[in-house]
Amino acid sequence: MSLCMSFILILSLLAFAPLCFSYKSFGGYLYPQFYDHSCPKAQEIIKSVVAQAVAKETRMAASLLRLHFHDCFVKGCDGSILLDSSGTIISEKRSNPNRNSARGFEVIDEIKSALEKECPETVSCADILAIAARDSTVLTGGPSWEVPLGRRDSESASLSGSNNNIPAPNNTFQTILTKFMLQGLDIVDLVALSGSHTIGDSRCTSFRQRLYNQSGNGQPDYSLDQSYAAQLRTNCPKSGGDQNLFFLDNVSPTKFDNYYFKNLLIFKGLLNSDEVLFTKNEESMELVKAYAENNDLFFNQFAISMIKMGNISPLTGLKGVIRKNCRRVNGIIKQ
Ligand code: HEM
Repeated sequence: MSLCMSFILILSLLAFAPLCFSYKSFGGYLYPQFYDHSCPKAQEIIKSVVAQAVAKETRMAASLLRLHFHDCFVKGCDGSILLDSSGTIISEKRSNPNRNSARGFEVIDEIKSALEKECPETVSCADILAIAARDSTVLTGGPSWEVPLGRRDSESASLSGSNNNIPAPNNTFQTILTKFMLQGLDIVDLVALSGSHTIGDSRCTSFRQRLYNQSGNGQPDYSLDQSYAAQLRTNCPKSGGDQNLFFLDNVSPTKFDNYYFKNLLIFKGLLNSDEVLFTKNEESMELVKAYAENNDLFFNQFAISMIKMGNISPLTGLKGVIRKNCRRVNGIIKQ
């Protein structure tokens, strides 16, 4: 082959190489049809396992929705929250927001093993979390949306990321907003996504401070309805009962609706991080009022913000892997 011919061959290889590399990820973007050919039954399988789990225990919908959030806020939506500790991996399950709190891992395992039977090493754990979050929302009466897909799984976890990036219930409004903005989310996303607290439970330890000693002077939080506070104190004592459970939305705890926002208007938000959306910032207060008044507005924005959250730094193309078991990195045997 002449020098000129080889030069042309190399040039054309270079020209087409990006096409080959981006084929799997469509240039790094996620799209809903990602598994249409490689695993056409993926969504159906996920939906049926989630539906069974939620039929057995309604709270599971909330727990699965929260897992996607806690995944996406740490190194992006890469399934890192699902990794158990092993070798060099220190599991995010041990972090402050997740310890004795994050749940639903067995349901994800069940989904993953069903998918591995149907189409091995094809559907990522990160995508399972995104679809399960959508299905959980729908099953409890919330909005639906098409989930963009094609995320791949990380081979590492970040305990510090989990501790630092996920907002805490006693963070100030500004800190919470900053943590959202660091993920590319804005105040509208913050308020709409907090509407997830229309379902699910919180432990006493997550809001006790409000009942007894909100700002270090031995007084309760006056932005919490005082008769509601008295009711909460009966099961959330000054000490002990840390793990006792309380509905985040006391009016319709298992239904995905806008009562969460209606509760905030009458100072019956359970977490400090809930009530501050109404009391500490003009713009978020207006959003709370708007969602309390108009359920459709909330549902539409919730779907938009969930898609936005699901797009946080996904691993696509040649980055990341498809884990065979969501709890561990391929090839490493669990201890
Ligand atoms: C805005 C900042 C947020 C804070 C400070 C926060 C904090 C919390 C806390 C403290 C709990 C109770 C955990 C426990 O005591 O075990 C909880 C539960 C929950 N969170 Fe959030 N959260 C926030 C945003 C979100 C978002 C964005 C979502 C989803 C998109 C979400 C979904 C949920 C769900 C569904 C539950 C109930 C889980 C269950 O019952 O298993 N949260 N959250």
